[in-house]
Amino acid sequence: MAWKVGTAMAVLLGFVGVGGGVGDGADPRRDGWRATYRPPATIPFPAENPYTPAKAELGRRLFFDPILSGDGTRSCATCHVPNLAWGDGRARAATRQQGDMDLRTPTLLNIAWQDGPLGWDGKFHSLEAVAAMPLTAPGNMNLPMPDALGRLSADPSYAAAFATAFSDPDVTRERLEAALATFQRLIVADAAPFDRWIAGSEDAISEAAKSGFDLFNGRAGCAGCHSGWSFTDNSFHDIGVGVGTDTGRGRLKPTSVALTYAFKTPTLREVGRRGPYMHDGSVATLDAVIDLYDRGGIERPSRSRSIKPLHLSAAERANLLAFLATLSTSTGQDLTTVSFAELPPAP
Ligand code: HEC
Ligand code: HEC
Repeated sequence: MAWKVGTAMAVLLGFVGVGGGVGDGADPRRDGWRATYRPPATIPFPAENPYTPAKAELGRRLFFDPILSGDGTRSCATCHVPNLAWGDGRARAATRQQGDMDLRTPTLLNIAWQDGPLGWDGKFHSLEAVAAMPLTAPGNMNLPMPDALGRLSADPSYAAAFATAFSDPDVTRERLEAALATFQRLIVADAAPFDRWIAGSEDAISEAAKSGFDLFNGRAGCAGCHSGWSFTDNSFHDIGVGVGTDTGRGRLKPTSVALTYAFKTPTLREVGRRGPYMHDGSVATLDAVIDLYDRGGIERPSRSRSIKPLHLSAAERANLLAFLATLSTSTGQDLTTVSFAELPPAP
């Protein structure tokens, strides 16, 4: 009898040692998880606003052109800076008067795959619908829409570019929005070390990062929200960050407890280069982000049930950070010079 128990124990211990995520062993679910991070083959463009090189070219020009601000000092790229992973590196975006807005500038990486509402609180129903707000807001670009359309129509090279892109010379709000959105859908995260690992190159990331990946998908539950190739479910959750009247999606959905203090799950692409973090820039470093998840944020009725104290060991924290580091490239992508005529169009 004693012998039998002993054998059973040995078999169990052996099983845990190989597959249970103990020590250096891989989680047995790792390969299944890996399969969920394969990159998509093409960029999705909506049927109402299909891709054309001429529209993308016009959209790029508009995105970088301060002609779209009242006093000619700001463009979309003032805050969505390509070399800063399409954010601005600030805790909160700067107003025209150099004060702080309420929100941090989000990256535009992989915006084409955000099929739900946009903005930290989901105030925008589509990518096309975003542009008019920064453009016309007095604290931001401060250019009323009729003035924007008037300026572009009066500029012969813009008039020609609209005529080429839309087979018609009229400069309308709808076309301005369509061109800007077409350009932004081309802002796609470059392949990072993580992607080379997903593609099968075992040496592309460290063993620590692989353990961090197991934790991210397993016990820490990060992938419940930061899911798939773009590391977001495009949905809204309270992770215990916002306080006071900063209720996020709750302002738009006042009857929902779960949406009080809920903000959109951000992509984690290039995350190492995009601090400070969160909708309000309140968390300075990735180390501090891990602290926050380890504590479990502010406990309250709206907090997501997936968020709870994790009690991570020092090694687990280091592994999670090593994993997050594999989501950044060293250079980022240069859409300022790429030729759209040579880019593969959507199907
Ligand atoms: C002053 C800095 C600033 C400028 C200039 C600016 N933005 Fe933004 N952008 C922000 C901030 C802050 C947010 C978050 C707004 C919110 O959540 O309500 C944002 C949000 C967005 C989003 C939504 C992203 C997401 O993940 O939900 C898009 C798209 C966008 N901006 C495009 C543009 C375009 C196009 C222009 C030019 C017409 C522009 N922005 C100009 C700061 C800026
Ligand atoms: C319940 C859904 C959910 C879970 C689980 C979750 N996150 Fe998040 N994550 C979010 C949301 C929502 C935000 C934005 C919150 C805000 O801005 O106030 C966020 C923000 C972040 C940020 C900051 C990104 C940026 O651009 O500001 C990082 C990094 C991050 N999460 C990593 C993790 C890690 C690591 C885990 C696991 C330990 C995890 N998340 C678990 C939903 C989640």
